[in-house]
Amino acid sequence: MKYMITGAAGFIGSHVCTELLANGHDVVAIDAFNDYYSPALKRDNAGSLDDNGHITWVEEDLLFCDLDRLFDGADAVIHLAGQPGVRLSWDRHFDVYVERNITASQRVLEAARRTNMPRVVLASSSSVYGNAPSYPTTETSPTRPFSPYGVTKLAMEQLAWSYADNWNVPVVALRYFTVYGPRQRPDMGMHKFISKVARGEPVQLFGDGQQIRDFTYVSDVVAATIRAATLEVPTPSVLNVAGGSSTTVNEVLRLVGEYVGRDVIVHRVPEQPGDVRVTGGVIDRARRMLDWSPAVPLAEGIKRQLLHQLHGSE
Ligand SMILES: NC(=O)c1ccc[n+]([C@@H]2O[C@H](COP(=O)([O-])OP(=O)(O)OC[C@H]3O[C@@H](n4cnc5c(N)ncnc54)[C@H](O)[C@@H]3O)[C@@H](O)[C@H]2O)c1
Repeated sequence: MKYMITGAAGFIGSHVCTELLANGHDVVAIDAFNDYYSPALKRDNAGSLDDNGHITWVEEDLLFCDLDRLFDGADAVIHLAGQPGVRLSWDRHFDVYVERNITASQRVLEAARRTNMPRVVLASSSSVYGNAPSYPTTETSPTRPFSPYGVTKLAMEQLAWSYADNWNVPVVALRYFTVYGPRQRPDMGMHKFISKVARGEPVQLFGDGQQIRDFTYVSDVVAATIRAATLEVPTPSVLNVAGGSSTTVNEVLRLVGEYVGRDVIVHRVPEQPGDVRVTGGVIDRARRMLDWSPAVPLAEGIKRQLLHQLHGSE
């Protein structure tokens, strides 16, 4: 099978490519290598992929490249390119979120429509729920994003439904919940905790640390994503992809300290606008439709990320 992967050099994208290549598929890997975080890290991610002659890199921006030409003849597109991060999505940064999460996704959906793409998988987010009236959230819970980032992800989903309803574009949107593991983005909490604790530096902790996150290990996200691209599932669909390990930030920090073997020095700062209090997702739909369930428990996942981040082993 031939897969188009957007955002292929990013955290999740590079793991999806690794898995597809390991299973003998052809991959067209698209990434702009933008500087939201160090492009050198993205080059490392790309460089870690086995170039077995089955991967073609396209270093281009989705906003400008000829997607019809690229998409022609592919079996599925897995659209992971986007502008992540809740806290930076305010103020003047919002334009970038609109461009990379809405406009770029619209270009992907248009090209998918024109090339009759057999399946389109979209990376959405638990951020579409905002501060939900009750937890855990199901896919039918109300959506009320608490950040501009969440608004752009919900807009992407809504665009996808209009392409599905008018043109039968076969869309599956996956709402990822806090993904972690090797190659995690350096702006994400777990990555920062591990680096800081290992260096004996203070960890900046927003609010009281009692925020709860449903951490999802990256290989579980990859498995759900590839299943969503290949299995016979009704479209359009939206599915929560959550790890089932809802834990406080304080507890994660304690575990990081324990596994690194150092005391954790905490520097408390106020809660950040856009940060929700809780995330937690019901995954019954993904279990049923994708015959999927998360396999990596939090303690094991943290150890694996830590080994990779501090010692370079996967
Ligand atoms: N990591 C998480 O916890 C999480 C949670 C929910 C949703 N998501 C979504 O999953 C997707 C992947 O997240 P990630 O953590 O791997 O992020 P990432 O930043 O590591 O990867 C995104 C990649 O997309 C590329 N990109 C962005 N805009 C582009 C464009 N217009 N054209 C070409 N390439 C472009 C970037 O260069 C980057 O390499 C994102 O859409 C994100 O919003 C991630």
